Amino acid sequence: MASQDAKTQARRKSAAKLTRGFRGILVYLFVVSGIINLLALTGSMYMMQIYDRALSSGSIPTLLAISALAGGLYLFQGLFDIVRSQVLVRVGARLDRDVAPAAHKVAMDMPRFGFSGAEAASRGRDVDTLRGFLGSQGPMALFDLPWMPLFLVFVYILHPLLGALTFTGAVLLTSLTIVTEVMTRRLSGAAHEALIQRNAMVDSNTRNSESIRAMGIGGRALERFVVANEEHLAIQTRANDITGTFAAISRVLRMILQSAVLGLGAYLVIQGSLSAGAIIAASVASARALAPIDLAIGNWKNVVMARAAWDRLKGTVAILDQVQPKMPLPAPRRSLKVEGITVAAPGSGQVLLSGASFTVEAGQALGIIGSTGGGKTTLIRALAGVWPVLRGSVRLDDADLTQWDEEALGAHVGYLQQDYVMLDATIADNISRLDTEADPRAVVEAARAASVHEMIVRLPEGYHTELGPQGASLSGGQRQRIGLARALYGEPFLVLLDEPNSNLDGQGEAALTEAIEGVKRRGGIVVVIAHRPSALAACDLVAVVQNGKLTAFGPKEQVIGSVRARPAPGETVPAREERVRATA
Ligand SMILES: Nc1ncnc2c1ncn2[C@@H]1O[C@H](COP(=O)(O)OP(=O)(O)OP(=O)(O)O)[C@@H](O)[C@H]1O
Ligand SMILES: [Mg+2]
Repeated sequence: MASQDAKTQARRKSAAKLTRGFRGILVYLFVVSGIINLLALTGSMYMMQIYDRALSSGSIPTLLAISALAGGLYLFQGLFDIVRSQVLVRVGARLDRDVAPAAHKVAMDMPRFGFSGAEAASRGRDVDTLRGFLGSQGPMALFDLPWMPLFLVFVYILHPLLGALTFTGAVLLTSLTIVTEVMTRRLSGAAHEALIQRNAMVDSNTRNSESIRAMGIGGRALERFVVANEEHLAIQTRANDITGTFAAISRVLRMILQSAVLGLGAYLVIQGSLSAGAIIAASVASARALAPIDLAIGNWKNVVMARAAWDRLKGTVAILDQVQPKMPLPAPRRSLKVEGITVAAPGSGQVLLSGASFTVEAGQALGIIGSTGGGKTTLIRALAGVWPVLRGSVRLDDADLTQWDEEALGAHVGYLQQDYVMLDATIADNISRLDTEADPRAVVEAARAASVHEMIVRLPEGYHTELGPQGASLSGGQRQRIGLARALYGEPFLVLLDEPNSNLDGQGEAALTEAIEGVKRRGGIVVVIAHRPSALAACDLVAVVQNGKLTAFGPKEQVIGSVRARPAPGETVPAREERVRATA
């Protein structure tokens, strides 16, 4: 309950921060809308003057003077209208500039917490939705609505009965807007969910393009997409049906009302209580009074979408606000300490690793072995701070990882993930971690340390080779070695390698051993996960991770010896090593 309150409060605070710069503009837009609406009375006034003054007096100069005045007023109305729409477009652009980076920052983080790529991408699209809405007809109608009484009063002054009729119409149309709102509100969330589901399907199918083609399952993949698309379409159709129906009803109602105003006006003229000019003036003014409601109903779908996007964005920005500022800490130089950590999957909360403790000193390398799915990658994610630990702590020189500023910590960590993908950039940018002012010597040094320099310079574009999406233009082994170079770039204290040799040949493995030795020599720490024993060559310590537990830890010879003597459940490295020897 308390945390719920805190969350609501955080959302409100971040919303206030988002709108802080806009409050003045909103007031300005409100006033400009008032002027526009006031000027919109020009048409009615002109009609009245024509009928009741120019026609009755038969004076051409009067007609000319009235027309010139009306022309001038129309011109002003047009100018204010242009100003208002330009301001709204700029408000949209400014909101985008302020919010899009925050939304993207959250989107980058979401996959780490078990959200799909499509879900993450939708956070970015929320900004587009909002900007698009601000540049459309929708907000104009919303700014005109509060000025509706201006026209009601005008009609009322012409004749109270006409005023009452227009007021009734306004109430009817407003009720229609409310009904539309109630009926579509529930659907908008469902429509958003369905869209994300569909886009996730697109994401998954495009990512598996190769396998889908090779195994001839394009038809089945398409079928899954069609099902998701149908669901999305069904909700969309329902929502569009509702808004479409109510928009049509409101349009007809407005036309009926306009005719009713004329009819009632004619009756009043016949009775002698109204002038002929006033009929037309009342008709024009009542039409204008009801137009924003009509427009609002017609645009209601966009209003609902924009509001939902805004609500989600407030939540998105609130997430970032919860990040506390961190003290700058000195570069770590001594140790990596793991103290009784429990790690859970951020998506499901399922505990994947528990009660792991060990210490690695500067200049040492730790090899992690264990059966498939045992929790090795989970452990290394906790060491890198990619997944938060549920209990216990990971300390660099005794400072818990949570005390570090994310970017400051990143500079001291090299990380090669198991299913590594390259950034869509050049090889040099990939190695230098997108640092555009990187020292080229440091890039070459990292490439040399990963023994990939020769391979890179043999490419036609060398270090400036563009890798394309996910590094598609390189082989698996090449990507792995460039990934290793990136992990070594800038000589980070802690180098974390998740199966860095899975794609390497003998030469690559020798290079990996040399790279690990290099980190040790300069006083760094290496933690390397290995299914193949060759990666253990340079390790001093070995840890065994099985079924979510650290089952052994110690000097390499000791641990490997004990594992050999008492084979652990599942496949272990030494067992496989012996099998390889036996078949050789
Ligand atoms: N994002 C995730 N959400 C939920 N469970 C996960 C997630 N990633 C991994 N798991 C589960 O956690 C367990 C440990 O996975 P982990 O990737 O740590 O294994 P591993 O030891 O690295 O295996 P491998 O040798 O195959 O790489 C597995 O049972 C896996 O199903
Ligand atoms: Mg793994």
